[in-house]
This record gives sequence, structure tokens and C-alpha cells, in this order.
Amino acid sequence: MSTLNKKTVEDIAVAGKKVLVRCDFNVKMENGVITSDKRIVASLPTIRYLIDNNARVILCSHLGRPKGEVNPEFSMAPVAARLSELLGKEVKLAKDVVGESAQALAAELKDGEVLLLENVRFEPGETKNDPELSKKFASLAEIYVNDAFGSAHRAHSSTTGVADYLPSAVGYLMKKEIEYIGGALEDPKRPLVAILGGAKVSDKIGVINNLLDKCDKLIIGGGMAYTFFAAQGLNVGDSLVDNDNLENAREMMAKAKAMGKPFLLPVDNKIATRYDVNAPYMRIYSDSIPDGWMGLDIGPVTSELFAKSIQDAGTIIWNGPMGVTEMPQFEDGTIAVAKAIAETDAISIIGGGDSAAAIKKLGFADKMSHISTGGGASLEFLEGKELPGIACIDEK
Ligand code: 3PG
Repeated sequence: MSTLNKKTVEDIAVAGKKVLVRCDFNVKMENGVITSDKRIVASLPTIRYLIDNNARVILCSHLGRPKGEVNPEFSMAPVAARLSELLGKEVKLAKDVVGESAQALAAELKDGEVLLLENVRFEPGETKNDPELSKKFASLAEIYVNDAFGSAHRAHSSTTGVADYLPSAVGYLMKKEIEYIGGALEDPKRPLVAILGGAKVSDKIGVINNLLDKCDKLIIGGGMAYTFFAAQGLNVGDSLVDNDNLENAREMMAKAKAMGKPFLLPVDNKIATRYDVNAPYMRIYSDSIPDGWMGLDIGPVTSELFAKSIQDAGTIIWNGPMGVTEMPQFEDGTIAVAKAIAETDAISIIGGGDSAAAIKKLGFADKMSHISTGGGASLEFLEGKELPGIACIDEK
């Protein structure tokens, strides 16, 4: 099923209407203080559009995992305060999710006003996608907008169930994610090159499998590569190997071969004696990793090879760093790939989570066409799984 034909906020008349917007305000906090407001900022275009078009805006989100119990530690109060600052207008905070306070404040809302409900995960029915709770969410509003891409892989009451009872649409954040990631999967500008890294093969097997069907070339780097070397019988020393996925790794390489698609692995690596910023390190070819050493980055020959391999790409999907970007001596591979992507004319799509964080830290964020706001959600999207938070939205 295509994700590209979903209704957006612009397809529905919102003036004077109560619009329930599911956002992903699951922001990083320390001692009650927001340490990164990126997810709040990313939600602003939809909220501003609704305010400017005289909707009565009711926002909701989860924050952390309070497990169905009211817990002040996970209150949305800091989010309401930050939102008020960013919007330059009052954002009222309900004392509950769908209770008396939420009902009363929603009923009183005037055109262009904004209300935030308490943490949806204070309700035990939320993560169970309880229809009774979904109906209560629906009773607050006349239209449902899902803009929470980061939670689109969760079939919960506020992300999915509520859409059974209200006309629905996606917001701008969700629209952009669908256009870039959905567009790359369904109708990419070719050649489509996928670059996958990160430590865990188990997280990425589904992604590799799906992307092999869609892409023209697949490139593997990062800690994951050593499982592919081990699967070919190469010595990898103390490098990270996922023994449970050796067979899967072999299957993926065989699939690429059968499909005639280039499947590139690092030819050289930076290896160290320990996972430690102070450990001695050196460069070595992939077939000569000695015992007592572990691979922590791709080497310079590989960086050049990968850079050349993406030169003519029409679309690039990148998920997962090429090395341990937390240690300066092992960030070169990731920097080289980011730089090479930045120099192409390709549409570049960066998966959320670690890759997004690495790109931002290394200073390449503004050179990419799209950096996903969803970690788990972007992985499941790339795996080809249906995301319930998108599937539930009305089509045009
Ligand atoms: C995230 O941070 O990935 C999303 O907000 C989803 O959070 P969850 O994993 O607690 O459902």
C-alpha cells in the first residue's frame, strides 16, 4: 500500500474546528529540564499552520515510558512551557489526558488557541490501543492529525486507534518523512544507493533485505561489517560479531549476487587493541585482522571506494555510522562518507537515531536533503513494514 497519497492538514477545512494533533514530544530530559527541544521545534510548522488557520488546537504526546500510571516525573509541563516560548503564545496544560480537565479546557478553546494534554501514557489503555480510550480522545475533537513520525511504528490509541473515530490527516513533519523515505522506497530517482552501518546486524537484517529489493547498490560499513567478514570465514580478531546472524549475513550476500547488485564491504579498517580512546590503533586490510585487535572504523581506501561508489547516485539512503564516532580517531570513515554524500547532487536521506546524531555532531546536517526524526520508526519504514500511525490516516 502506498504511503504517498495520505490526506494532509491542507486537505481539510480546519477553521473553527477542534483538531487533535498527535506529536512526538518525547524529548530528552535531565532532572526535569529539556536538554534537546529538536522534536518540539520539528512540530512547529503544523502547529503554526493550524493556529494561523483558526483551528482550536489540542496537542498530545507521550514522554518516556510511565507505564500507564500518573507519574509527575513524566509530566508534559516542561513541554508546555517550552512550546509557549517557541510559539510566543500561551499553551494551556490539561491536568489529565482525557478526563474532566481535558474535556473542560477543550470545550472552552477559542479559534487559534492551543491546549496540551497530559502524557498520553498516563492512561493504561494507550499502549494497548484500547478502543474506549481512542473514543475518549476522539470525543475531544472533530479532526485528528498525526504528526508523530517518531511514534508511527506504535499502534497505540493516540497514534492509531483514534483515527477510527475521526476524519484524519498527517501534519507537515509526517508529510516530509513520507515524501522522502516513502518516495525513496516507492519511486526513487535512480540509481538508489543504500549505505548501512552501525553496530548491530540484528537491527538491520530486515532493512538490508528490503533495500536489496529496492536499491541499485548496497554499501555496508560500521561494526556490522565484521559479521559479514566472519560469515565469509575471514578472521576478524576481537571485532564485534553477531554469531546468531552469520547465516542471515550469508543469505544477504547470496541474494545480492543472485540479483546482480553490488554489495560493498570495507576493504580496509582501523583497528585497535581495545574499545578505548587511548588504545593503540592501526590500519589494516580486511583479510588480515589479527587476533587481539578489533575493527572500529573503515579505513581510508574504503572511504575513497565508498565515496566513488555514490558519486553518480540519484538517491542515497544512509542509516548507521561507519565507525565509533564517539572517539575522534575512529570518526574519519563517517566524516568521509558524509562529505562524499554532501558533494553529490543526490537526494540524501539520513535515518534517525545514531546516524542523525552523528551527522549533526560532525556538522553535515544542513547538507542533507532529509534527516529523519524517527529512530525505530525510520528503521521499520526502511524495512518495508506498514507503520500503523501512517496506515490509519485517510487517503486523498
Ligand atoms: C522514540 O523516541 O523513538 C519515540 O518517541 C518512540 O518512543 P517509544 O520507543 O517509547 O515508543
